[in-house]
Amino acid sequence: MSQTSPYKVEYNLKVVRQFAVMTVIWGIIGMTVGVLIAAQLIWPVLNFETSWLTYSRLRPLHTNAVIFAFSTSALMGTSFYIVQKTCRTALFSNRLASFVFWGWQAVIVLAVITLPLGLTSSKEYAELEWPIDILIALVWVAYIIVFFGTLVRRRTPHIYVANWFYGSFIVTVAVLHIVNSMVIPVSFTKSYSLYSGSIDAMVQWWYGHNAVGFLLTAGFLGMMYYFVPKQAERPVYSYRLSVVHFWALISLYIWAGPHHLHYTALPDWAQSLGMVMSVILFVPSWGGMINGIMTLSGAWHKLKTDPILRFLIVSLSFYGMSTFEGPMMAIKSVNALSHYTDWTVGHVHSGALGWVAMITIGSLYYMIPRLWSQTEMFSVRWINTHFWLHTIGVVLYIVSMWISGVMQGLMWRAVNSADGTLTYSFIEGVEASYPFWFIRFAGGLFIVAGMLLMAYNVWLTIRAGEPTVESIDVAPANPTTKPA
Ligand code: HEM
Ligand code: HEM
Repeated sequence: MSQTSPYKVEYNLKVVRQFAVMTVIWGIIGMTVGVLIAAQLIWPVLNFETSWLTYSRLRPLHTNAVIFAFSTSALMGTSFYIVQKTCRTALFSNRLASFVFWGWQAVIVLAVITLPLGLTSSKEYAELEWPIDILIALVWVAYIIVFFGTLVRRRTPHIYVANWFYGSFIVTVAVLHIVNSMVIPVSFTKSYSLYSGSIDAMVQWWYGHNAVGFLLTAGFLGMMYYFVPKQAERPVYSYRLSVVHFWALISLYIWAGPHHLHYTALPDWAQSLGMVMSVILFVPSWGGMINGIMTLSGAWHKLKTDPILRFLIVSLSFYGMSTFEGPMMAIKSVNALSHYTDWTVGHVHSGALGWVAMITIGSLYYMIPRLWSQTEMFSVRWINTHFWLHTIGVVLYIVSMWISGVMQGLMWRAVNSADGTLTYSFIEGVEASYPFWFIRFAGGLFIVAGMLLMAYNVWLTIRAGEPTVESIDVAPANPTTKPA
């Protein structure tokens, strides 16, 4: 903890600034790779007959870049910002915080090198090989120490609700990562899972679904609980609802993984359990969405003029949409149609681009000027342009995937009544999907254009300002101080 005087504690905003800038950069890289693979599906020649540019290698590069580089950098940066502000204390250790930043960037750079080389464990969202997994575990332990150490040192009587969500995300991801990464290495770059058969599949999707539940959901709800009230200048709508939906959300998510394994060799009871838990999960998910959106009660007019608030509130609408769609897709008879089709990809991106990316972008627009001694971004008009580019892009993406997904599912199951043979060959389904893949590609271009505009706006904001130095008075320690 750095001290400017015996009565002052200086926040560590440097590490927050580092993460904020890298979030924008990784967002551009990850989404550009998304646009490239979207284009490859239409024009396969874009792999230039180069092994490391093939779709199979770039797809995991995209998912790793957007989930672990863009989203996780956003979570780490905002959690370090929020935990200091709401606990009225500096980070537990600046050195460890710096290790978290550089260690995590090293993990990402290693992913960017190894995935195009084809080095992969082949487990979705856990593709990185064992030496990188060990580095991830070390960085994560440091992250746990910094975050919880700061909570322990807080100068406030309560732990602000955003920190519960961040805390559950941080602890659960550690457990998921360690359990799912248990392997037997055969060389420095190759290993085999310790689990086999359907147990391997179950562990993998217990991990995979909870990566969605805790990383792409709980962590971002933490972001929501800080930045929505701040930007709306209103208290959280219901404290009681936040307690109830927090406990319900984290206790239900952990059971829902088997909905990824419907109609597989996994025992039927496990599939049904996953289905039931997923359907119930709708309730706490909407509890969170309602709490966020209703925080705006009495301040709806602000949506007309404030593009940051628009990013934050529209992200919650997408959250509501994807958490209605997910439970529906978890019903076995619906999954029989949606599985393997573009419908899943549409669902993923309504969560990822609608919820995760929009809440992140809104939060960055709130935080970045304050990190560089400014009151607002260089251009608020550009934030508005970004909002529309992003929203149009997401709508083009998800609507086209819904249509092509349902179409694919229906084409694959169509049979001729005369002899029971398939009505369509697989390639006919692919051919029919091209127009929708093109619309997705166009949507991606809108989104990346918005991100580039954001980067320019961020650059001009940083150039116009100076790194903020912010201290708080800590004398005398006042146990009745309210959270900031
Ligand atoms: C410009 C924005 C983006 C574009 C154009 C894009 C494009 C794509 C494409 C073409 C795929 C492969 C789909 C397939 O195999 O059929 C994909 C997969 C995926 N993307 Fe994106 N993406 C974008 C942004 C994001 C973001 C921001 C996230 C997360 C925060 C994300 C998460 C994922 C995930 C998790 C998958 C795997 C889906 C699955 O296995 O079902 N994407 N993306
Ligand atoms: C109540 C909440 C949710 C439920 C019950 C749910 C349920 C589902 C279901 C049933 C699937 C399809 C599985 C399959 O057929 O293979 C799926 C896929 C997926 N969902 Fe959700 N979902 C929820 C929310 C979300 C959110 C908010 C996000 C993102 C932020 C998200 C990200 C994903 C991803 C990445 C996949 C693709 C996994 C893969 O196959 O690679 N989900 N979800």
